[in-house]
Amino acid sequence: MAKLFTPYKLKNLELKNRVVLPPMCQYSVHTKDGMPNEWHNVHYISRAVGGTGLIIVEMTAVHPDGRITDEDTGIWSDDFIPAWRHIVDQVHNYGSKIGIQLGHAGRKAEDANPPVAPSAIAYDGEGYKEPHALSTAEVEELIQAYGDAARRAVEAGFDTVEIHGAHGYLVHQFHSPLVNKRDDEYGKDLPLFGEKVVQAVRKAVPDDMAVLMRVSAREYVDHGYSVNEIEDTCRRYRDAGVDMLHVSSGGEGPVGAGGMKVVPAYQAEMAAQLKRALNIPVIAVGLLDEYEDAERVLEQDQADLVAIGRAMLRDPYWPVHAAKALQVEADVPVPYLRGYRK
Ligand SMILES: Cc1cc2nc3c(=O)[nH]c(=O)nc-3n(C[C@H](O)[C@H](O)[C@H](O)COP(=O)(O)O)c2cc1C
Repeated sequence: MAKLFTPYKLKNLELKNRVVLPPMCQYSVHTKDGMPNEWHNVHYISRAVGGTGLIIVEMTAVHPDGRITDEDTGIWSDDFIPAWRHIVDQVHNYGSKIGIQLGHAGRKAEDANPPVAPSAIAYDGEGYKEPHALSTAEVEELIQAYGDAARRAVEAGFDTVEIHGAHGYLVHQFHSPLVNKRDDEYGKDLPLFGEKVVQAVRKAVPDDMAVLMRVSAREYVDHGYSVNEIEDTCRRYRDAGVDMLHVSSGGEGPVGAGGMKVVPAYQAEMAAQLKRALNIPVIAVGLLDEYEDAERVLEQDQADLVAIGRAMLRDPYWPVHAAKALQVEADVPVPYLRGYRK
């Protein structure tokens, strides 16, 4: 039996298989009001029809200025709850579980005027503005914004929430020594912001709901942190209430002299290292397109779940096709069975 198709349980999150759709921004809110629309309905619901164990909705902003672009989704007010609930209910109808990634782009918010960040240091890239350095009071308001967003996610019926602590966005900006040059408590103790975000989210969701966090296990800019160096920060997040890490890397700036090797399963060993060091379940992600690679990461116990991003943009039925390839009975939707008969 392929491990990919064994069930998995974390607190009250019960998955039918180990396949995760990772968060992927659709940049499709053309009304620019953050509201998910027909595109999001079709996109997420079709991945449920395709047999995905856990769908994690794209980075969704806890504050209007937290969007990467104005075409991103939001959850910064209660007005968003019904639209999200519709997607959640439909995804449940087709047998998948669904979480939402709560995020704030900080200095990488391209349409915010100005963007905000721990310090007034612009992201190194064309077109990025110099951000406003958040006051201590503003930092605390944003921590609360994550908590309020998590409460809305629960009201919309999501099965789990994922805090975006990776890819050079706000939580990552606070724990990155190259970006956070503050002299208040949030600068003297780099993981403090992320830790308080975790606590605010934890307080807003039921005790038996699993809280996930995505982290960049290493930075690729010159003098960026290594996976060994981020371990203690992740430990703080775990102790504050994170139940599972979703292990990615990079995103904080241009890749430095050390380079970045994007080969199959390129981030899986970092996931395995954090899993072992912190004794915490992990999701591995990054070029696991080939069914055998995804299966091997699970077999070798590098991760508990595997996320399949771009390959699932190409193929919403990736889980069905993986099951066929790994000779497991596939979860083919009944109306589509004829498509698989010779
Ligand atoms: C179109 C697109 C949008 C993405 N948006 C997000 C996002 O909202 N949040 C996030 O954490 N990662 C985001 N990512 C990264 C993916 O979740 C994933 O980590 C990455 O694509 C590597 O996995 P893959 O090789 O399976 O695609 C995005 C990737 C793509 C291709």
